[in-house]
Amino acid sequence: MRRLRATASLRDLVRETRLTPSQFILPLFACPGEGVRREIGAMPGNYQMSVDEMVKECAEIRSLGIGGVILFGIPETKDETASGAYAEDGIVQRAVRAIKRDVPGLLVLTDVCNCEYTSHGHCGKIVNGDVDNDATLEWLAASAVSHARAGADIVAPSDMMDGRVAAIRRTLDASGFPGVPILAYAAKFASVFYGPFREAAESAPQFGDRRSYQMDPANGREAMREIELDLEEGADMIMVKPAMPYLDLIRQARDRFPVPVAAYQVSGEFSMIVAAARNGWLDRERAIMETLTSIRRAGADIILTYFAKDAARLL
Ligand code: PBG
Repeated sequence: MRRLRATASLRDLVRETRLTPSQFILPLFACPGEGVRREIGAMPGNYQMSVDEMVKECAEIRSLGIGGVILFGIPETKDETASGAYAEDGIVQRAVRAIKRDVPGLLVLTDVCNCEYTSHGHCGKIVNGDVDNDATLEWLAASAVSHARAGADIVAPSDMMDGRVAAIRRTLDASGFPGVPILAYAAKFASVFYGPFREAAESAPQFGDRRSYQMDPANGREAMREIELDLEEGADMIMVKPAMPYLDLIRQARDRFPVPVAAYQVSGEFSMIVAAARNGWLDRERAIMETLTSIRRAGADIILTYFAKDAARLL
């Protein structure tokens, strides 16, 4: 076996899995104000950015050949009804309009969820102390339509309410957006690795946790069922999230469903590598490339990653 490993050019020739920047999606956090670029403590190198700053950032992202960006929003105020999530002039809606205007050609995805916009930090409407699934669908559909109206290329629901893909598809179609695809966060687990993100998006639940709507990390068969249902409801692409602890499910999804499969290398996966590298315990660049290559090898066509810029430069 060693004959084909002898030199860099031989290894390059026989490499089975390759990365290109166009497969990466970079998550960005939009916040109110002007000239704001606030570093996120647990995610060094990532920022809450006002729309003007985000537009500059997006020009650089486009020039690196990165596949696109996915936008999250930190609204001016949060309330019980997540009104900032579906406001026509909400923070994400404004950011999408500005990016589409000033950075044409860059693919803009939007995360469709309520947790950044509710005062309690949960992903849906609270009725009798718990998230009410069906009452939440209306908010999600309204958010998706408001994103589409602002110019979003793809909407990506991450809330894990049952039936949300169907509700969003129906409402997009009825509102004149039959051409906007849905990337469903189909198999999204109740993961400890979202911790740093909740600081970034200021979206930690104020009581309880998300285990009544996000998946139990122990369940692989159920993940396939979630994906199947989202595809039946009209999802164009599906996602497994987080990525590295769930590589088996990325592989199963790739083998079972003939649609584009995305994987999200989430905030905790990012922060672990950055923290270890800062301590001198891991080589940052090699850790980035090895983890991204492994996610690709497992079967992901698209990778959402906070390392998109680093990886694009390394490639
Ligand atoms: C919103 C959402 C979350 C993430 C993406 N969309 C947080 C959560 O579910 O608590 C996590 C992303 C990351 O950790 O990088 N529901």
